[in-house]
Amino acid sequence: MNRLILKKITAFVLIWGMMVSLAGCGSRKHKSYTTLRVGVITYTQNDAFINALTDCLKTELKSMETAHMKIIVSIRSADDDQEDQDEVAAEMIDAGCDILCVNLVDRTAPSKIIRNARDNDIPVIFFNREPVMDDLMQWDKLYYVGCDAKQSGEMQGEIAADYINEHPEVDRNRDGKIQYILLEGEAGHQDAISRTDSSVKTLISKDITLEKLSYQFADWNRGQAENRMTQLISQYGNSIEMVISNNDEMALGAVEAYKKAGYPEEEWPVIFGIDGLKDALEAVEAGTMQGTVYNDKEDQAREMAKLAVDIFKETDIESHDLSLGRYYVSPYQKVDESSVEKFLKPRQ
Ligand code: BGC
Ligand code: CA
Repeated sequence: MNRLILKKITAFVLIWGMMVSLAGCGSRKHKSYTTLRVGVITYTQNDAFINALTDCLKTELKSMETAHMKIIVSIRSADDDQEDQDEVAAEMIDAGCDILCVNLVDRTAPSKIIRNARDNDIPVIFFNREPVMDDLMQWDKLYYVGCDAKQSGEMQGEIAADYINEHPEVDRNRDGKIQYILLEGEAGHQDAISRTDSSVKTLISKDITLEKLSYQFADWNRGQAENRMTQLISQYGNSIEMVISNNDEMALGAVEAYKKAGYPEEEWPVIFGIDGLKDALEAVEAGTMQGTVYNDKEDQAREMAKLAVDIFKETDIESHDLSLGRYYVSPYQKVDESSVEKFLKPRQ
């Protein structure tokens, strides 16, 4: 073989080798770029707290995107129907989602979602509406992010008791008892049952004598609570001295009812909620509500986002410090006139 031919062959082999290695780089680059698809299904689209929480979740997930990982978040609601939610979950799994975040409609009926997720190996983070433990323990890729409802009831009871002790005029008719109404969230919801129970027990343990006028379910909803309260105001007149509400939206419904009934503010009862949503914080600042308990949506959203990413990347989730390896419990915080300012500032 003469020299010239040898040179040509060498050059060809070199160029071909470079092309192959370039193509190799290209495909390696393609492989190192992953997409995490998170499917979020809420129980309804009409719940102020849940909407605020899912907004935070979306922001948190987006902030965790990197050059190597794109995160696509799809949020749908179940219109208060468990069968609808089962179907939406199935559609999301079929469409290729990697992790599901589920806010159950009926917390006692997660079986279909769990079965489908397990068959397709899609981990599920339940949030806010807590499945019973037996269900959560069915498979090791099921998690729960929420709060300890009892703690929120106790804090609400403490804020209310402290307020009454400092303001004896709450007992407007001076009979030594506080005539009260309790607005309850939703029959069967872990937060409703536990908040009602622990709030009342805490007030009693702090030596407040209570007289129950009425307990009313209003489905966590401002409009429904306003209707119930309007009716109760016409029944009891100005003898209602306190309204304890399982959440802020219903407490704000009570505020609305008093505004519309045209009572002067000195004749309003004291009103306490739970959640610390913006409207309620403003009501505490304005003095139309006397307190609330902060349900830390930012913390819950951050934990859900981190958990989703770590599960997806198959990172060890030890650092999440989950109780029983499954549960993340976000702490509540008391909010009253003296602390409301710090909660009104934009939070991280
Ligand atoms: C919140 C309520 C909300 C409910 C929905 C509770 O934790 O305090 O505002 O309506 O969750 O499940
Ligand atoms: Ca009284």
